[in-house]
Amino acid sequence: MTETPDRNLALELVRVTEVAAIAAARYQGTGDKDAVDQAAVDAMRDVLSTIDMDGVVVIGEGEKDEAPMLYNGEQVGNGNPPLVDVAVDPVDGTRLTALGMPGALAVLALAPRGTMYAPGSLVYMDKIAVGPMAKGMIDIEAPVAHNLAQVAKAYDKPISDVTAILLDRPRNEPFVQAIRAAGARITLIGDGDIQGSIATAKEDSGVDILFGIGGSPEAVTSACALAALDGEIQAKLWPRDESERAYALDEGLDLNQVLTTRDLVDSDNTFFAATGVTTGELLEGVRFGSHSVKTNSLVLRSKTGTVRFMNATHRVEQLRDLASFEL
Ligand code: FBP
Repeated sequence: MTETPDRNLALELVRVTEVAAIAAARYQGTGDKDAVDQAAVDAMRDVLSTIDMDGVVVIGEGEKDEAPMLYNGEQVGNGNPPLVDVAVDPVDGTRLTALGMPGALAVLALAPRGTMYAPGSLVYMDKIAVGPMAKGMIDIEAPVAHNLAQVAKAYDKPISDVTAILLDRPRNEPFVQAIRAAGARITLIGDGDIQGSIATAKEDSGVDILFGIGGSPEAVTSACALAALDGEIQAKLWPRDESERAYALDEGLDLNQVLTTRDLVDSDNTFFAATGVTTGELLEGVRFGSHSVKTNSLVLRSKTGTVRFMNATHRVEQLRDLASFEL
């Protein structure tokens, strides 16, 4: 039996990430990270409301009282089917954008209703991620050196040629020490571990494995992308203190559970779109020209495994109609 082709929602989502990236990029280098975020959120919401979907934000800007828009639990889309969970990161790398540094993305992911993992208010997870070549060969509970050896085996190269990417944070210092001791290479990033996770699954990105403790929302969003790229992510909730441990206990969140890609998003039909705000490992940033603006995006769907890199040239007058921001 042949299957009727159905909608690739990610192709509609990319319009949302494009306007968010453009809006945010207007604030590149201003030093104002809140303005970067606000511009992206405003632009995103305008276009999101036009998309044929009945979405609920599972991974959003926080709780309703602290986030006026795109908060967890908010309904998005025009209310028509399909019913979906939404993960939104208007800018992963608000600080990078505000400081004019590389690697910021506007990101949106969808999966069928009820399939995305909700980390509650536990904001950090320990993570490990790889691309298709090393899928099935890593174990977050094993020592760093073991995982590096597995990746070296998968790529048939010495450990000294394996590159690990991780967020530059004091809490990740033990990972840095262990990677150095094993003799592998390191790429440290200031922010933006969604881009870091995805880079492990992109051929020739120069990055083979992601380690370290980063945001929980970013783990779920990365899982939507890695599911489509046939890569793998494993994560464990990482409480900062005793009160977060107690919270996990109250909420029935298991701190010992290894969350697989499938636990983070339990679906074979995830959609993911990201547009570069500032140029990085994965995508080029927004470029403002004469009466036009150029964007570079990644569009993914796990059901089909389609990977699209999309360049777009936007006419300035069209953008004025599309989103509530001034160019
Ligand atoms: P935002 O730009 O959305 O704030 O996130 C940037 C980021 O670097 C994520 O990519 C990462 O997962 C998280 O922050 C790490 O958190 P923290 O900056 O608190 O260490």
